[in-house]
Amino acid sequence: MQHKTIIEPFRIKMVEPIYMSTEKERLNYLKEAKHNLFLLESRKVIVDLLTDSGTTAMSAEQWAGIMRGDESYAGAKSWERMRDAVSELTGYPHIIPTHQGRAGESILYSYLGGKGKVFISNTHFDTTRANIEYAGSTAIDCITEEGMQPSLDHPFKGNIDIKKLEDTIIQYGAENIGTVILTVTNNSGGGQPVSMQNAKDVRTICDKYNVLYILDCCRIAENAYFIAQREEAYKNVSYKAIAQEMFALADGAVMSAKKDALVNMGGFIALKSKEISNACTTTLIIKEGFVTYGGLSGRDMEAIAIGLDEVFDKDYLHYRITSTTYLGNKLLEMGVPIIRPVGGHAVYIDAKALYNHIPVHEYPGQALACDLYLKGGIRGCEIGSVMFGKYDENNNLIPAPMELVRLAIPRRVYTQSHIDYVIETFEEILKEKQNSKGIKITYEPKFLRHFTANFERV
Ligand code: F0G
Repeated sequence: MQHKTIIEPFRIKMVEPIYMSTEKERLNYLKEAKHNLFLLESRKVIVDLLTDSGTTAMSAEQWAGIMRGDESYAGAKSWERMRDAVSELTGYPHIIPTHQGRAGESILYSYLGGKGKVFISNTHFDTTRANIEYAGSTAIDCITEEGMQPSLDHPFKGNIDIKKLEDTIIQYGAENIGTVILTVTNNSGGGQPVSMQNAKDVRTICDKYNVLYILDCCRIAENAYFIAQREEAYKNVSYKAIAQEMFALADGAVMSAKKDALVNMGGFIALKSKEISNACTTTLIIKEGFVTYGGLSGRDMEAIAIGLDEVFDKDYLHYRITSTTYLGNKLLEMGVPIIRPVGGHAVYIDAKALYNHIPVHEYPGQALACDLYLKGGIRGCEIGSVMFGKYDENNNLIPAPMELVRLAIPRRVYTQSHIDYVIETFEEILKEKQNSKGIKITYEPKFLRHFTANFERV
């Protein structure tokens, strides 16, 4: 019999209790956290959908690996296993371990960048952009027209716009391009996949202008699942083989292992070029750690090696994407505007459309994120003008292209009833939405302001 119900393909062996707070308690918690959900203690959260990063439940095999971790300073066995796993997957000869994704970004993009350098991506993730700008370079997003329309259905809304990419290279001069970064899936653009055809087209352009091509591959297994579903030629290709083909197209990759390597901490840079690798290694030793651990414990590296294999399991990926889609489709049926189609790791609510009575400079996304916490103890994340807004010379907000709230689903952590609870909370949000008020910023730092800014209700 072919079952309709797709179940979590695992049993739960260890549990973590959740404190069931009341709405009254949460009103106080929110005030104490200055209406910034990043400043909230996790024990005050019921369903934590802040991020899918580092929040994975590891498998019994990974925990067993943790016990085997070799903590030698140099040449640990666990490093050999991680290096071999990354090398086998990516096909790249030079592997540099880092403690998480942004450490890799900082090392690689500060080497490739500097004043006058330009980086081009489908969409730069916030830490990627911050690392690039911090090194004095410019980051330019070249998302396609389809990718910018939240309600439009399209199989590969994560694609980079090839014409814009080429025009940008010509405009700034190929010699000034730090690198092209293809982010798969495209997190800031809605967790939307990038097609293999698009990855190939980027190769063609990078060859034409002799520009470096790097993958931000932290969700490449989820991206591979979408390629197998939506790109005819890959229907019968294994998820891992799809990922390997994509790696083969690029010159290197940066990975936050906290996503598709199914671990709580870790990352790497992987490269074809020995020269770039040597330069990165020098910074690595100064800033992160020796070349065979780069800021990671032996046990972390062990868990990464195992996670990189487990993530390509076909039942796991099927369950993973199906459960995200379940949440998204239920919200759509209720009339909650979301980015369509549903992405891989998260559902993105279009807060500008849902809270159309709140102007953009009063941050409708932040208002919705706060309401979700109040009503249900659900922690999501604003991905809009709080995260990406800038100011012009008169201190007026230049808003982000979209005002979104991301509900990111941790891997292997929540069951369907947790998700049903989230869906139920949205019934209340829809009923009460006209009463929701906007948000103003009372404190903000210069970089990555969303992490530590303070807010108040208008
Ligand atoms: N690139 C992408 C596409 C990411 O989504 C992230 C992190 C990073 C790089 C940086 O990796 O956190 O290990 O330093 N994204 C998390 C998120 C934080 O919530 O989406 P990191």
